[in-house]
Amino acid sequence: MDYSSVKGTHDVYGKDAVALDYVASVMKAVAELYGFHEMNTPVLEYTDVFARGTGEGSDIVRKEMYTFLDKGNRSVTMRPEFTAGIVRSVVSNKLYATEDLPLKYYYSGPAFRYERPQLGRYRQFNQFGVEELGLDSARADAEVILLAMQGFYMLGFKKLSLKINTLGDDDSRRRYKEALKAYFSEHIDEMCADCHERLNLNPLRILDCKVEGDQEIAKGAPKMKDYLSDASDKRFYETLSILNDFEIEYEIDDNLVRGLDYYSEVVFEIHAISEEGHDYGAICGGGHYGGLVKALGGPEMPGVGFAIGIERVASLMKDNHLLDSLETGIDLYVMPVGEEMLDEAFQLTMGARQLGYKTETPLSPMKFGAMFKKAERRGAKFALIVGEEEVERGVAQLKNLLTKEQFEISLDKYEEELDKAFASIEGDDGHHHHHNEENEEEGE
Ligand code: HAM
Repeated sequence: MDYSSVKGTHDVYGKDAVALDYVASVMKAVAELYGFHEMNTPVLEYTDVFARGTGEGSDIVRKEMYTFLDKGNRSVTMRPEFTAGIVRSVVSNKLYATEDLPLKYYYSGPAFRYERPQLGRYRQFNQFGVEELGLDSARADAEVILLAMQGFYMLGFKKLSLKINTLGDDDSRRRYKEALKAYFSEHIDEMCADCHERLNLNPLRILDCKVEGDQEIAKGAPKMKDYLSDASDKRFYETLSILNDFEIEYEIDDNLVRGLDYYSEVVFEIHAISEEGHDYGAICGGGHYGGLVKALGGPEMPGVGFAIGIERVASLMKDNHLLDSLETGIDLYVMPVGEEMLDEAFQLTMGARQLGYKTETPLSPMKFGAMFKKAERRGAKFALIVGEEEVERGVAQLKNLLTKEQFEISLDKYEEELDKAFASIEGDDGHHHHHNEENEEEGE
């Protein structure tokens, strides 16, 4: 029997695993700068959370969910996105009952959608996202956009395209949907099967249909801006003016409607194309949601947030050589010369690890040349050569593998000597070893 991974899922290892982790950790650090804190909700939720939250009109709920009955006959779903689950948690834990608003959460982890797998589209993928709840303001909307942009800049992206639009308040959107329905009803015979469904479910979605003929027809459709209430219009321009203040470039895209049902007011997406011309799709999507907390049984409370596709971001970074300098190497490779030195080398290896240096050593006898090749493959900065005759004298040879310089160190002062050697190359590699600070404290 041949076993393979489930279609649309991936095993992640080596540099790819490092890359996914790196993207999430940079985004987390930036979210912390903005005062967000981590929240972890379960992968499994009762199906209603997404049906009511993400919305019956969305493609996700209609066709893409991993839904099944558990052994107690309850319908559960593996999260296709985080927002509905985060809001469910805010309601079931009554987190909204605080004076300390807005609530600010970030999250990262796997999400599941039964989509057709293709470049940048998987059935299990990872999202990082943030949700800011309880403050109805253009400034909150702008803040999460600024956070996303700063995150991407800190990852090294230079050119990104931020597309932004407003879906207005409920009243504006209702009037606009009516106008769209009237317009598209006249052309529906020429349009695709999906658009036939969308006409009744959510005519807004026709605007982002990818079929060429439908796009032509959509060009003549009524525009949201002609149906916006004064309040929504003002709010949108307030958000844009904050982006202007921080010199964030954006493109207003009338056809950007987003695929999830809960949005109102501002919505946005960030796109990027790799140097090699790959288009992985949107790397970030988000927006404001006015009615979601209430729809899931909470009070009237607005929210705004976004999620990024971690795999897509990592792929783009790889193509744009933004991952080349990512550290995957070790600090030190300890080389026993001859089988009798294996124990001594293992001791010295453990000592270095306890000091905080990434260290490896062969656990069984290995030829000298092979050890050097291995040290090189593992990207070691130093090699420690442990020979019998030298160990008897209480010394070993430490070799800088970059400069090829080699010097004798005293094993009595092993820790000091290692710290000194690594300090001499610090700055070249930007590494910091926290144990130094701890040692200083102990000495006081
Ligand atoms: P979304 O646009 O459905 O929004 O997903 C956000 C991002 O997740 C996308 O821009 C994309 O990068 C990534 N993504 C989505 N589906 C896949 C897939 N099949 N394979 C790989 N990557 C994918 C949401 O999920 C909302 N919850 C965002 C949000 C938070 N809105 C307000 N708060």
